[in-house]
Amino acid sequence: MKKKAAADFRYNTGAAKIPWAAVGEPIASEDVLEMVRFLLPPSKDKKVKYSQQLKKVAGEIKRLGACSSPAGKLSLGNQVQELEAKAARMLKAKHTLFLTNATAGFEIGFQFAGLQPGDEVIAPAITFIATIAYPLSIGAKVVIADVNPRTLNMDPKDVKKKLTRKTKAIIPVHIGGYPADLDPIMRLARKHNITVIEDAAHAYGAMYKGRMVGTLGHFGAFSFHEVKNINALGEGGLLVTNTPHGKDFAKARFLGVNMAKQIPNWLYDVTALKGRRGWFAPGNHSATEIQALNLLLQSKRLKNIIAKRKKAAQYLTSRFRKVEGIITPPADTAKTRSTHHLYLLQVDPAKAGGDIQKLKKKLDMKGVVNIPHFAPLYKFSIMQQLGYNTKAIAKTCPVAEEAFNHRFTHLPLYDFKQAELKYLADAVISSVKEMQSGK
Ligand SMILES: Cc1ncc(COP(=O)(O)O)c(C=O)c1O
Repeated sequence: MKKKAAADFRYNTGAAKIPWAAVGEPIASEDVLEMVRFLLPPSKDKKVKYSQQLKKVAGEIKRLGACSSPAGKLSLGNQVQELEAKAARMLKAKHTLFLTNATAGFEIGFQFAGLQPGDEVIAPAITFIATIAYPLSIGAKVVIADVNPRTLNMDPKDVKKKLTRKTKAIIPVHIGGYPADLDPIMRLARKHNITVIEDAAHAYGAMYKGRMVGTLGHFGAFSFHEVKNINALGEGGLLVTNTPHGKDFAKARFLGVNMAKQIPNWLYDVTALKGRRGWFAPGNHSATEIQALNLLLQSKRLKNIIAKRKKAAQYLTSRFRKVEGIITPPADTAKTRSTHHLYLLQVDPAKAGGDIQKLKKKLDMKGVVNIPHFAPLYKFSIMQQLGYNTKAIAKTCPVAEEAFNHRFTHLPLYDFKQAELKYLADAVISSVKEMQSGK
């Protein structure tokens, strides 16, 4: 039997003499060559060889163009469906939705949660602003929870303290790919009827107590932005849920368009969607076929990518563990596993002879530059501009304050050569030793 097209797989008019796809302009074969050039630019030392090879490729693409027909479907087609099906199997999730980015996933989760202006959302101090972008945009109140000093993930005890009758959602973050402690958060959520949206931007493939991260909350969103372990040609997101809302997912991605139902003399109906507190109007977060294809290809390598990163993390930990004053991140166990997106490096300033700011300056001098890490959300101007008393908030997050100012940074874990990794470990260790000897 022919598979029924999902409700938002648009313009799927099937075989026809003049198919609907004809209304769009096709991608030309010359465009493909430019895309190849963009994705595979010349290496610095091989420019001449590169232009010779590119000429050959240009000829081949031209010949290929002469006997091919242009891709008919560029948005929300078979690649997106296949990606969503494969992700659902990997995560053991009932419903999956490929989107423009993780931020869009949070937005949809909050919309189903029925978040209204004035409601409260609890988010951890240490994360990226995307975690709270939607609540801020609609005038919900963001309540910042302090973090666990070892993982820098949301501290469930502080969440409990900051819970009020107005709390409608909690958004834990699996920072750097290491799972947040979700059991106590889910217990609180069940008791108080609160929606949990996991910010799993760093955590595609992570596991918490034997379950895939992103599927423990009511919703979970992953990011495939270019800096993540795998990406969807630069941008992409995946929203997952096991709640009954999942049946309306496809409509939440694309403006509530319902291809399964028609108004008279028209192709489809448009519907509002039902959140926990009434109807809402969804936005447009559609992603493209080529992004889904790229992510499908990268997904095949995900296991190896995580394994390689884990090995690099284990190497760093084995070197750092021997040094007084360096605090290493928690290791994986059989059932709780990180994606090793980032390596969380912390120092104990009293034992390391100085704090992380001093260490970062020393690393910079050794050529280990541009180390990114996450500032507590309340440090950004937007919070004050929107009327938050950021000084008072900082006082309620002493662990995040101390960690940010004095204790932590993230080291990258991408595809290092062993010599680079060794250099990185040596640089950290020798810098700490210098600090300890008063230099
Ligand atoms: C912790 C965290 N949450 C959310 C996001 C947002 O992801 P996206 O760019 O896919 O919206 C990021 C992106 O870097 C992130 O680091």
